[in-house]
Amino acid sequence: MEFRELGTQNGEAHIIFTFEGTVEQGLKKLQDTLFIGESPYPLEYYKGKKGEIAELFGTKESPLHRIIIVGLGKKENIPTWNDFRQAIREATGRAVRYARTKGYKEAVFTQGFLLEDSFQEDSYQLYYDIAYASEVGLYQFSMKSTQEENANPKIYLCGSKESHTDALKQALARGRRLGKASSFVRDLVNTPANIVTPQYLLEKAQDIAKEHNLQITALNRKEIKEKGMNAFSAVAQGSETEPYCILLEYTPQAKEKEQPIAIVGKGLVFDSGGISIKPSSNMHEMKGDMAGAATALGLATLLSGECSQRVVIALACAENMPSGTATRPGDIVTTLSGKTVEILNTDAEGRLVLCDTLTYVQNEYNPSTVIDMATLTGACVMALGEELTGLFTDDDAFATMITEAGHISGQQVWRLPMMQDMFIEDITSPIADLQNIGKSRYAGATTAALFLKQFIHNNVRYAHLDIAGTAYSSVKSPLTLGSATSAPLAMVFTLLTHVLADK
Ligand code: BES
Ligand code: MN
Ligand code: ZN
Repeated sequence: MEFRELGTQNGEAHIIFTFEGTVEQGLKKLQDTLFIGESPYPLEYYKGKKGEIAELFGTKESPLHRIIIVGLGKKENIPTWNDFRQAIREATGRAVRYARTKGYKEAVFTQGFLLEDSFQEDSYQLYYDIAYASEVGLYQFSMKSTQEENANPKIYLCGSKESHTDALKQALARGRRLGKASSFVRDLVNTPANIVTPQYLLEKAQDIAKEHNLQITALNRKEIKEKGMNAFSAVAQGSETEPYCILLEYTPQAKEKEQPIAIVGKGLVFDSGGISIKPSSNMHEMKGDMAGAATALGLATLLSGECSQRVVIALACAENMPSGTATRPGDIVTTLSGKTVEILNTDAEGRLVLCDTLTYVQNEYNPSTVIDMATLTGACVMALGEELTGLFTDDDAFATMITEAGHISGQQVWRLPMMQDMFIEDITSPIADLQNIGKSRYAGATTAALFLKQFIHNNVRYAHLDIAGTAYSSVKSPLTLGSATSAPLAMVFTLLTHVLADK
């Protein structure tokens, strides 16, 4: 999305939003100010319901050839500013997709005319949201040899010369940047595992480190073993694909001494289940089991210039395959922490790569805060569905901050329990310190989270995000396609740059 001075050229399709029941007012404002012509358009069927779209065509004299009106639904159903921002993001996604479907080359948002009333329309947050939503709304993934869809329209924000302030420029650039990072995450998650290998993720990480001036190191299979990360190693040993534990460090100026925030991502480029093999239906979706790592990589592209805190990003990348060298159910490994784990199910592999990565990150970087993102359990999807990320933390204040970041960004979280006393027995092995699945079939998301918690050092603020449901969606929405969603990138970015800043 780019800025274009009002009056220079008006573009092919002009986008406005309307609340349900206020269409007439909106049209009147358009007619009065943008002079789309006399005739009342035949809009008696258009109500402005949420997602409803109508298109108007301007008269010859009119500078506006086409107007795409997108309904936001009833105003009373959008009670808060955060709700309004989400409504605008979704309406933007619908509008730009509509313009593409029609084959329009340009779509234009104009300052001051987005809505029939100026409901805080001057807020830069809205332009940030529109820039972001235009990018993710138009996102597509295809490996077809020929292009089938229309090309994306160019998106503009139109305004007066005076309105093009530094603040507005920044809002547009930042929104676009978050949108581009989201597309990058989606590409990584959608691209299959014959292409996205741990090596591929390492190469992307190296490119990002170079471009954004981050420190990077990586442990290969041999080094993972030598360090004593035997749980990590146990997951990777059934596959011929080289695993990598990748570490990126972002240190803003004069923050060299600060304790960092660590962001840890599960990076299973493919999760067949291993010897505890998964059923074949939908197994292909497990190419997306590296969404946590992909999200963390997306975050790495966004930190410079945006984040005032030191951040360490760790990606636990491996492939989980059955073979003659694969881990057997019943194998016992000694983790980097010294704790022993009985691997009763090789499909509960996320916690195995993560527990050693968590220990390694804490040993090497002494973080004050650790957040992991992982497509960890089907149980979390059962509990929360595809719209809510599972949040696990013992820290109420931290839970509040993360929940707030969810509301602001439109990528919401819901807190689930992680009580040590209530659930620890379930993951205590009779012959090792821990077992990697619960004894009962119940509370699977909680027992997975509590497993990870056992590897967090005292006095470290910790949250686990189970993104098994949210990272990959089965249904199309205004901002997603029914595949990778890039959640919770916007949420974690908001958390780091706004909510957590100086807390
Ligand atoms: N990667 C899966 C979890 C998953 C399920 C992600 C659905 C996305 C969609 C994870 O490694 C897994 O297999 N978990 C098992 C754990 C069980 C064996 C304790 C599960 O949830 O069934
Ligand atoms: Mn698994
Ligand atoms: Zn997995």
